[in-house]
Amino acid sequence: MKRLIIPLITIFLWFAGPACAKPGDAENGERIYAQRCVWCHGEEGDGEGAAAERLNPPPRDFTAAQYKIKTTAFDDDFANDDNMFRMIRDGMPGTAMPGWSDVLSEQEMWDLVWYIKTLAGLEEEPLGADMDYGTRIESSPESIARGKELFLEDDRCVECHGKEGKGDAAKGLKDDSGFRTWPRNLTKPWTFRASNDPKDIFARISTGIPSTQMPAFGDPASDKVLSVEDRWHVANYVNSLAKTDKVVAPENTVVKAEKFEGPLPGSPDDPQWEQTTPTTFFLVPQIVGKERFFTPSNDTVTARAAFNEGTIAILLEWDDRTRSIPGDETAGEISDPELAQDSIAIQLPVVIPEGSEKPYFGMGDVSHPVNMWQWKSGTTETPESVKLYNAMGFTEIEIRDAAASGIEARGIYENGTWKVLMTRPRKPADSEKDIEFSDGEFIPIAFAAWDGSNSEQGSRHTMTTWYWLLLKPDTGTGPAIAAVIVVLLLLAIQFWWVRSATPAQTTADRREQA
Ligand code: HEC
Ligand code: HEC
Repeated sequence: MKRLIIPLITIFLWFAGPACAKPGDAENGERIYAQRCVWCHGEEGDGEGAAAERLNPPPRDFTAAQYKIKTTAFDDDFANDDNMFRMIRDGMPGTAMPGWSDVLSEQEMWDLVWYIKTLAGLEEEPLGADMDYGTRIESSPESIARGKELFLEDDRCVECHGKEGKGDAAKGLKDDSGFRTWPRNLTKPWTFRASNDPKDIFARISTGIPSTQMPAFGDPASDKVLSVEDRWHVANYVNSLAKTDKVVAPENTVVKAEKFEGPLPGSPDDPQWEQTTPTTFFLVPQIVGKERFFTPSNDTVTARAAFNEGTIAILLEWDDRTRSIPGDETAGEISDPELAQDSIAIQLPVVIPEGSEKPYFGMGDVSHPVNMWQWKSGTTETPESVKLYNAMGFTEIEIRDAAASGIEARGIYENGTWKVLMTRPRKPADSEKDIEFSDGEFIPIAFAAWDGSNSEQGSRHTMTTWYWLLLKPDTGTGPAIAAVIVVLLLLAIQFWWVRSATPAQTTADRREQA
């Protein structure tokens, strides 16, 4: 075993450990760049590649030499070679920047570093040393508590990242090139450009994120400066914000609806929802139907469900940095020019397909019509609302009366999270056009979401693929145990019957068979 562990550790360090600056061949780097990087970063390295206008955030302009991930001191203007190498090797999560370690050799990646430096005339610059990390303070409940105090104190981080760190403090931030930026949602570690390891967070807090509004808290001239020790506490706190029950687990594809004997949870924040299991799915931009959409701002939705004799209730939760209410002045100021309502929709087939067949990925088709329940957040003039559509593809959509089908919906917004509860009777109002919610069946279900402050309207939205909704049949242990006993009894009787009916084999018989 030991013999295996040592090479494994070495391989791990080789991949994940700090890079060690190496010389590279800029000319070879230029050749690889023209093949692999030019589409996004542009021929001149100015970030104006062919794909750039569809990307949010936009590709880096290398001529400005402003790198988001730098571990040099806050007053050092540039990132060092190791920083650039790491981003090329690992990519930048939450953006279009891919990691290249599967495609390019280590030397090729160093060649790229050296070529990219020439784009900003940095090839002669000496390499900046790493910042002073002091002595790392390991995470502990005390350190996290201290970090939280510092995070909240004088709105130090809250000013942009919001009270719970979801990036929802209402602000219209722009980066140095005038592109819209959002403070990171710190509860979603998979969107961190570097990682949510406290050491990475420490570095981001110390130097800020160059070219964006994320400030440098290691700057002694700032009135919000934090000591090395305090930066470790804040880093440990931010690391602890990773939501554990709202993280996508690819193996979780079923929303399990819990059976309630009495009334269902009556509001989106009813504590009874704790009795249900949350399942979180990735939202991807809609690029199947026209008009395609490439620059989403929300990336996950969490679903819970409950049912009783007569009704099914589905609770959807998703983080959205802005409560988009058209007509609202502050919402208008921070949004894209056309402010629309925030919205969420549930899609279900009218007829539950046989076996594992699911309706068409988009909005159903002629032989597989779907029900869509769409909730909208309302405007200053109109209250929130819910609509019912029957669709047979993107163009054949019938608007129906949601109230007549018994659909109700209610949403609340708090600290950067929408919670919307939708309910419907389990029996269909119109059995030709509405789905019936029977227990024990795997019912295909899909979701779509619109962030009204990100000019998401109509076909510009995010969506999930089809997953499953299961109304869990009674799990009462009494009947289940009884069933097991009956089965065991039947087996015992059969066994006895088979044995008594088969004539005893002799040793000679067995030898003959062998
Ligand atoms: C599909 C588009 C795409 C391709 C292809 C691409 N990049 Fe990027 N790259 C991006 C985006 C977008 C960003 C900016 C992410 C951000 O601002 O958070 C970026 C950022 C970077 C950064 C900045 C890192 C930092 O700390 O700020 C480097 C370096 C980089 N890319 C190098 C490369 C190299 C080298 C290649 C080719 C081997 C390449 N990229 C190919 C989209 C791309
Ligand atoms: C003035 C606004 C502002 C303040 C104050 C602020 N941030 Fe940020 N922060 C941002 C923005 C904007 C980004 C995203 C930058 C980008 O576009 O990549 C960000 C990104 C981050 C990231 C993401 C790092 C990564 O790898 O992606 C972390 C962690 C972070 N901030 C922590 C903090 C902490 C902790 C504080 C308080 C000590 C703080 N921020 C204060 C605006 C701010």
